Amino acid sequence: FDAVDIIAAKRDGQRLADDQIDWVIDAYTRGAVAEEQMSALAMAIYLRGMDRAEIARWTRAMIETGERMDFTALGRPTADKHSTGGVGDKITLPLAPLVAVFGVAVPQLSGRGLGHTGGTLDKLEAISGWRAALSNEEITAMLRADGPGAVICAAGSGLAPADRRLYALRDTTATVSCVPLIASSIMSKKIAEGTGALVLDVKVGSGAFMKEMDQARELATTMVELGQDAGVTTRALLTDMSTPLGLSAGNALEVAESLEVLAGAGPRDVVELTIALAAEMLDASGRPIGEDELRAALADGRAMDRWREMIRRQDGDPDAPLPVAPHTEVITAPADGVLTALDALAVGVAAWRLGAGRARKEDPVQAVAGVQMHAKPGDAVRAGQALLTLHTASPERFERAPGPGRGHRHQ
Ligand code: URA
Repeated sequence: FDAVDIIAAKRDGQRLADDQIDWVIDAYTRGAVAEEQMSALAMAIYLRGMDRAEIARWTRAMIETGERMDFTALGRPTADKHSTGGVGDKITLPLAPLVAVFGVAVPQLSGRGLGHTGGTLDKLEAISGWRAALSNEEITAMLRADGPGAVICAAGSGLAPADRRLYALRDTTATVSCVPLIASSIMSKKIAEGTGALVLDVKVGSGAFMKEMDQARELATTMVELGQDAGVTTRALLTDMSTPLGLSAGNALEVAESLEVLAGAGPRDVVELTIALAAEMLDASGRPIGEDELRAALADGRAMDRWREMIRRQDGDPDAPLPVAPHTEVITAPADGVLTALDALAVGVAAWRLGAGRARKEDPVQAVAGVQMHAKPGDAVRAGQALLTLHTASPERFERAPGPGRGHRHQ
């Protein structure tokens, strides 16, 4: 095979053959196809697309570059959730222990934030001592019936290594937001992870990759088909990401809000999405549980008990106070009225610039940085009332966080 022929074929709108796909993914992972060649191929795919059979083969080829985990020896169902990424999306934190309460093991292999979207591991690292990297043996031990039954940890470098390289390349070549490439990227990792059931939370709106409903629906359908073909019971929900989820965006702030949910309280939208996803995961695992029973497990502390055990097993202290930002700034309403919109992308960018996210993959994040929201769309507000509190460890960053144009700021 010759990389140039494969690039030219896709450039000219042809289908790639199975053996061409297998070769190019493997050769790229081994370093035998150059970065500039894969960049050109990614752009050709971005512009020309791939059909379902090509996407399925591309996904399979990426899985084949690494290891596949297998939890069948646990003797209990496994279910995972994947969100395509948003602002204030801390759902994994209450969701994994909640599902575990009902006897379905949750291997939640997670990632870090990039750009304005938060990452689950960055959030959990706000907890003193908590460790993201676990061995496969540690992961399995946490999923057994005598453990917490759920684990949230870093996806090891052995899962779909082709995707790791390709994702970094796409990030720097304007080839991220393309259905075939996103679907194969996400599903290669999730299929390699070995989960029995998978629920996809496909976000739509300003704060999501997919801004339009038809794109989001196409992504969801593609991923569900890839999962089903690989023997994973896969379902998808399309959920709104035009407004942030809950009342916080930022690492420690989102852990604090998740603890409220695990204590039976918390913002309504976060609770409702947690319940909806938990119901879907349990149903897809053949253990349907009613919403009232799910709410009861949040209210009576069963989910919280699982959470505390999960955190302790990863060397975190569930009782340690969360870090608090040394600098805050409050943005108040300029007039009486009703809050009509709170843009997810704007809030995400503000949290990112305050230090909650990173500009480059290797940058550190601040645990304390982020945005607390005091009102959501539809709420009546009075002049002078606090709308947002900005948090950071580096006050010079206040200037970089775009506030809502006419708001008033107070140190
Ligand atoms: N998340 C991924 O893992 N891959 C993508 O391509 C986009 C989002």
